[in-house]
Amino acid sequence: MAEATPYTLIDGRKISSDIKKEITEKVIERRQLGKKVPHLAIILVGDDGASQTYVDHKVKACKEVGFHYTMMRFADTISEDKLMKHIDQVNRDEDVDGFIVQLPLPQHISVERITEKIRPDKDVDGFTNRNFGSIVSKNPLLLPATPYGVMELLKRYKIETEGKNCVVIGASRLVGAPLSMMLVEEGRATVTVCHKYTKDISSFTRQADILVVAVGKPGIVTGDMVKQGAVVIDVGTTRVEGPQYKNGYALKGDVDFQAVAPKASYITPVPGGVGPMTIASLLLNTLRATELRNP
Ligand code: GUN
Repeated sequence: MAEATPYTLIDGRKISSDIKKEITEKVIERRQLGKKVPHLAIILVGDDGASQTYVDHKVKACKEVGFHYTMMRFADTISEDKLMKHIDQVNRDEDVDGFIVQLPLPQHISVERITEKIRPDKDVDGFTNRNFGSIVSKNPLLLPATPYGVMELLKRYKIETEGKNCVVIGASRLVGAPLSMMLVEEGRATVTVCHKYTKDISSFTRQADILVVAVGKPGIVTGDMVKQGAVVIDVGTTRVEGPQYKNGYALKGDVDFQAVAPKASYITPVPGGVGPMTIASLLLNTLRATELRNP
């Protein structure tokens, strides 16, 4: 039995707060130079509780760094065509530097049609095919926000990725797929992507120097799946409801933290790990979109 090691907890709140301070300074400087202050618009369809909470956090973050923001809310009965027209309007609004459409959308609306309607240079979530593809270009436009946040965490904790064995569980369009490309391109890592058709996932995860999990199934990564000394990044944030929780729910990661942490060298908690970094990346992308449009 291998010895338990003291692990370093990767503090996403602290790194996100550092990034927000850096952005605040840049906004102050832009104001002083008479340059345009970044303006983020947020489109929210319906009244999903989790989406509302995420959006509240995004608005709060805009206020913290001094960005302008606009909230646009629509009923969940809005037609796809009508929503497309609103997106067209925001695309053409010269004052808006970047915008997001909060997901999930109601069943009758195609996520792909909606995200592809967003102008790539205002797509601060980095969801469009153009921005997804730009990961492999020499000069990426706006990087997908959550993977960007994971890369920033690794960088700011000085975790070496070059030549490392990285295993990503989850091949989603928004996290697993773009992150695996970023780990190859920017991280120079050897990357294995596991997904629901992978046989014997443990045989891959046990080889991982860096293990990233983005599946949305609480606790699926258990202690026996992780190599001693591995870096473990948990992107999962599933709302689990129960009367024992303060707000009636708790956020749970994909990693069985109690079992995995003693084997890890670095590990992200949930909440307080990757979550706050998605918002930090959104702010970084909005600043970048502003600088590109109004240098
Ligand atoms: N829903 C859950 N996470 C996200 C996100 O990062 N961006 C958007 N637009 N919707 C989400």
